[in-house]
Amino acid sequence: MTTTFTWYGHAAIGISTSGFNLLIDPFFKGNAQASQDPSSLSADFILVTHGHGDHLGDTVDIARRTGATVISNAEICNWLARKEVKVHGLHLGGGFHFPFGYLKMTFALHGSALPDGSNGGNPGGFLLTTLDGKKIYLAGDTGLFGDMQLIGQEGIDLAALPIGDNYTMGPDDALRAVKLLQPAVVVPIHYNTFPVIQQDPASWVTRVSQETNTIVILMKPGDTIEIE
Ligand code: NI
Ligand code: MN
Repeated sequence: MTTTFTWYGHAAIGISTSGFNLLIDPFFKGNAQASQDPSSLSADFILVTHGHGDHLGDTVDIARRTGATVISNAEICNWLARKEVKVHGLHLGGGFHFPFGYLKMTFALHGSALPDGSNGGNPGGFLLTTLDGKKIYLAGDTGLFGDMQLIGQEGIDLAALPIGDNYTMGPDDALRAVKLLQPAVVVPIHYNTFPVIQQDPASWVTRVSQETNTIVILMKPGDTIEIE
């Protein structure tokens, strides 16, 4: 079964696997990079890594329109449940067998306040194991941390890593993250959306290609790749 990965710009990602459509950190309105209008997107599940507005994004609107279940940490899920949204709360290190695969919430070094100032718990990332065993690591917003090596031990087929700096890992630490994670493929995200996270992704591609065995795929917002 083919699994596809679409980058919509910033940290907004779509994954289609075993007939299920997942949206991750669906930030479209107010995202100058966004490749499309969220009203045309279908979703069965929405994964939210942390409470910041550029990740929570249009989650409430899309979840209400589609009936999708939102998966995030327990604090964000409790906040969303009060907005008439279906939720499934996970927490760091915990996973669950969903119809689309096994999804585990991973550690992230960041913040997670919700847009209204509510406590959004701890930030996270996600490690998805599809029904046919593909592993996709979505780091979320994070600084470099050594336990990426433990995550890498699971054998990652594709990792999406922030490279923008300022709020997350920059290009140097993201390169070190690739060395710890050793994914088959890496896609850089979370750059060039705002002036403070302006980066040259092409030079990062060159460095990763020269210093690791990982294949780097530079996507444009709206591009889709298949995960082999
Ligand atoms: Ni953030
Ligand atoms: Mn962010």
